[in-house]
Amino acid sequence: MKILVTGGTGYIGSHTVVELQQQGHQVVIVDNLSNSRGEVIDAIAKITGIKPEFYQFDLTDAEKSKQFFKSQPDIDAIIHFAAYKAVGESMAEPLMYYRNNLDSLINILQGMKDNGISRIVFSSSCTVYGQPDELPVKETSPVKEAWSPYGNTKQMSEQILKFACDAYALQVIALRYFNPVGAHESAQIGELPMGVPNNLVPYITQTAIGIRPRLMVFGNDYSTPDGTPVRDYLHVVDLAKAHVTAVERLQTEAQKMPYEVFNLGTGTGYSVLEVIRAFERVSGLKLNFKITARRPGDIEKVWADTSFANSELGWKAVYGLDDMMRSAWKWEQALMQQKLPGRY
Ligand code: NAD
Ligand code: WQD
Repeated sequence: MKILVTGGTGYIGSHTVVELQQQGHQVVIVDNLSNSRGEVIDAIAKITGIKPEFYQFDLTDAEKSKQFFKSQPDIDAIIHFAAYKAVGESMAEPLMYYRNNLDSLINILQGMKDNGISRIVFSSSCTVYGQPDELPVKETSPVKEAWSPYGNTKQMSEQILKFACDAYALQVIALRYFNPVGAHESAQIGELPMGVPNNLVPYITQTAIGIRPRLMVFGNDYSTPDGTPVRDYLHVVDLAKAHVTAVERLQTEAQKMPYEVFNLGTGTGYSVLEVIRAFERVSGLKLNFKITARRPGDIEKVWADTSFANSELGWKAVYGLDDMMRSAWKWEQALMQQKLPGRY
């Protein structure tokens, strides 16, 4: 298939492009590089031997988006990653989040409608569940009132897709990711947070390499086995492979329903302290960390029921927590060699 990957130079997008190319698909990337670097295109080419076609523009620009779709009449499917994703920033700048995440989706759906493209895989998030009443969380668990504008854009995007699916006879798969971490084994691509990271794993690796003096562990008074919050961490390469499976499911018309939702996680929850211990185990280092106050808005625990993705999508995560930490550490060390500006 010829697959449009929006946000394809980003963290999850770049890993997905690699897996798509390795399965013989042709990829076209659109990204405005608002949260990624153009060099990722060369890194992808180094891994796969194929340089993906790349267009740099903002998908919220309706006219540019229209022109793009006109110039690409043979797109078979879309994987839509492009979005802003920082929860805290979305609290401070809600309109920026609604505009970016919703306008870009609407422009893509318009492009699909106008050009007869019917297949789309969408990046959703476990954030749509908030703190679920029952664990592990199933796809049928209630979507609760959003805790952040970011989470709200994912809930609204899913609704927009559902109605568009019915109205325009689309085939849609929404993938609700839990906590993607780690990097490609080649250490050519990985997560590249701009400035101080919000997420746990890049904060750990940046602390270990000396960019940050100390990791703050946000609270150890939760109702969890060691008091620190529990999440379902998932290797980004496993996650990338799930996108290949999902888009091929659309191609082969294997869907049971035109609009489907799948949880993507490992099904196992780990606490913050367990993640730190895994990192120390694989790196052989002692991490400098300190327990501090809870981070406002953090939920206590969440992990996925992955049985629907395992049985129906035919996908299962294979990497464990140590693999995730090992690859994240290898990537951090590779990044250090590059001396990128804006990381310190
Ligand atoms: P990322 O920021 O690394 O990648 C997103 C890419 O989209 C970036 O390269 C950015 O430049 C691009 N982009 C953003 N707005 C754009 C626009 N208007 N036009 C063109 N390009 C634009 O993020 P990621 O971690 O790879 O996440 C990808 C998707 O997965 C996002 O939709 C995110 O919300 C979702 N998601 C991420 C996580 C996570 O923890 N990383 C978890 C659940 C869901
Ligand atoms: C994990 C755990 C923190 C940093 C976020 C988004 C969610 C989804 C995934 C996109 C928590 C603790 C963290 C630090 C810490 N993204 N922590 N010290 O919050 O589960 O989810 O990313 O959809 O929507 O909210 O991930 O990596 O930020 O935190 O103690 O410096 O690590 O308290 O328990 P989170 P995270």
